[in-house]
Amino acid sequence: MENIDNYIAKSSKDYNNLYKESIKNPESFWEKIASTFSWKKKWNNVLSYDFNKPEFKWFEGGKLNITENCLDRHLIERADQTAILFEPNNPEEESKKISYKELHQKVCEFSNVLKNNKVKKGDRVCIYMPMVPELTVAVLACARVGAVHSVVFAGFSATALAARINDSQCKMLITADGSFRGNKTIALKEIADKALLDCKTIDTTIVLKRTGQKILMNPNEKWWHDEILKVDDSCPATEMDSEDMLFILYTSGSTGKPKGMVHSCGGYMIYTAYTFLNVFQYKPNDVYWCTADIGWITGHSYIVYGPLLCGATSVMFEGVPSYPNYDRFWNICEKHKITHFYTAPTAIRALAKHPLSFVQNSNLSSLKVLGSVGEPINEEAWNWYNVNIGKKKCPIVDTWWQTETGGIMLSSLAGITDQKPTFATKPMIGIQPVLLDSSGNEINEKNKDGILAIKFPWPSIARTIYGDHNRYKNVYFSAYPGYYFPGDGALIDNENNYRITGRVDDVVIVSGHNLGTAPIEDAINQHPNVVESAVIGYPHEIKGNALRAFVILMKPEDNIQIKDEIKALVSKTIGPIAKPDIIQIVPGLPKTRSGKIMRRILRKIASDEIDNIGDVSTLLNPEVVDQIINDSNI
Ligand code: PRX
Repeated sequence: MENIDNYIAKSSKDYNNLYKESIKNPESFWEKIASTFSWKKKWNNVLSYDFNKPEFKWFEGGKLNITENCLDRHLIERADQTAILFEPNNPEEESKKISYKELHQKVCEFSNVLKNNKVKKGDRVCIYMPMVPELTVAVLACARVGAVHSVVFAGFSATALAARINDSQCKMLITADGSFRGNKTIALKEIADKALLDCKTIDTTIVLKRTGQKILMNPNEKWWHDEILKVDDSCPATEMDSEDMLFILYTSGSTGKPKGMVHSCGGYMIYTAYTFLNVFQYKPNDVYWCTADIGWITGHSYIVYGPLLCGATSVMFEGVPSYPNYDRFWNICEKHKITHFYTAPTAIRALAKHPLSFVQNSNLSSLKVLGSVGEPINEEAWNWYNVNIGKKKCPIVDTWWQTETGGIMLSSLAGITDQKPTFATKPMIGIQPVLLDSSGNEINEKNKDGILAIKFPWPSIARTIYGDHNRYKNVYFSAYPGYYFPGDGALIDNENNYRITGRVDDVVIVSGHNLGTAPIEDAINQHPNVVESAVIGYPHEIKGNALRAFVILMKPEDNIQIKDEIKALVSKTIGPIAKPDIIQIVPGLPKTRSGKIMRRILRKIASDEIDNIGDVSTLLNPEVVDQIINDSNI
């Protein structure tokens, strides 16, 4: 078997050569990368694709199980090396080191629990758990038996959980009694109980004991610790086709229904591992920490799969950056001698607001590489990160990608290619981005805003939206035929560095969370006194963007109570992350003559750009604009 290390860029010249090769002859290039993994049977065909259908197949006919690549194949060389280093929410509780051998055992045991409970290849399993090692075990056990995992972020509400379970008809739910987050305990099982009232497809629920709080156990609900006693730790991995489904992960779109993005086994495996090594330049004995939650794609690709595929030591943190104090991240860096630290701009901005003494009390000399993901990182946050955390000696990789792309698409390679603050910089090896104008023509001018698009498939592109291939086609492949359209704008500088300029659709990135405005409006409109609403994002110092809702009421009343009720409704329907910061009761919403809400005008009002609103005379109701501006000082 070839060694993947032979294809990792070690200089910018390497990057240029590998990039050129990957574009000139993608199939032979990716075939070489694929050959560095362990397959049960070789593929028949490297790539077949059709942007019109759209359909993408990588390594079809190849048989594998991703967990053999994450676990079994490391048992010879690194059985005793730490695979998962768990840091609990409470710093008084001991951290845990789980070696590759132990993780393999735990995954095999839990795979047998799944089998004992009649989970078969292709069944969907919903995982709604805190950031504890068992979450990784559950994810990998699904993959081992060929079940499709659908991890739902444990901050989502009962309604959001139920919608996700029902959309993919999950057969099993894996959850916990509760979760610890800072000084709060969250009653996860109670939330799951509420969700399950609306779910008909779940046969069995497995419950992990984490907080020890009192919960109700129904007849088809079983404790994780009881089920484990009934099985042994030997479980051969189920043979999967490269194109079989590995997981579903929901992301927000511009309609109320979340999109269940489907990722498949072979291409996702190759791409996450290859980008992990290239971008982070991980070396043996490094300790890599990505602070994301496994409920998001960053956690899937760069806490679980990417690092474990590469035999890395990956840290899982259960808590929050502010508990017990604002120095928690830095204490953990010192405690575990973290070499790679990958976080979100919103966390950096929030921590930068607090005195530097929180940073200075920790020894951060183990750090080698810093990373950023989830939203554009502004220059001030970049500089703070560079000076105070990296001490100007750690490269910062600003990684642009999405749930849909499966892995990093644009980024510098740590210490190998040039970085530039606020720029994600260069395409990954194998990625062919372009900028388009609104008519879909490629823009070749530098420093000009355009629409980002990708013109050739890559191995980890999401294959469909679960149960709705038409929507997949419409959202990502119809606006600009022949390209993948991610929904972001970008520009390119004179050195061909990419800078992401933000979303070009109705999705707002709040604290790095991708939130569609439509589902939030749907939630608000459920209030009996609400006629109509429009939600937009506006710039926010810490969150990047915050949400502001403009709401028309049936019986006008402008008081705290109705605003609180609306916020509670959003929290209940979607989750606390989607609560608007500002709710403004308005007499009407600016509309075109065809009745479309002009969110662009509301965005200008919310961003304090009232001098720049433009011509409103063609609106159906131009008078409403001044009324909204006059009432907006709240
Ligand atoms: O708008 C881009 C923004 O986050 C969106 C994807 O969100 P999600 O699918 O939740 O995945 C987030 C983690 C990969 C993108 O369309 N985004 C992500 N990373 C960056 C970014 N915007 C600018 N710079 C980034 N580094």
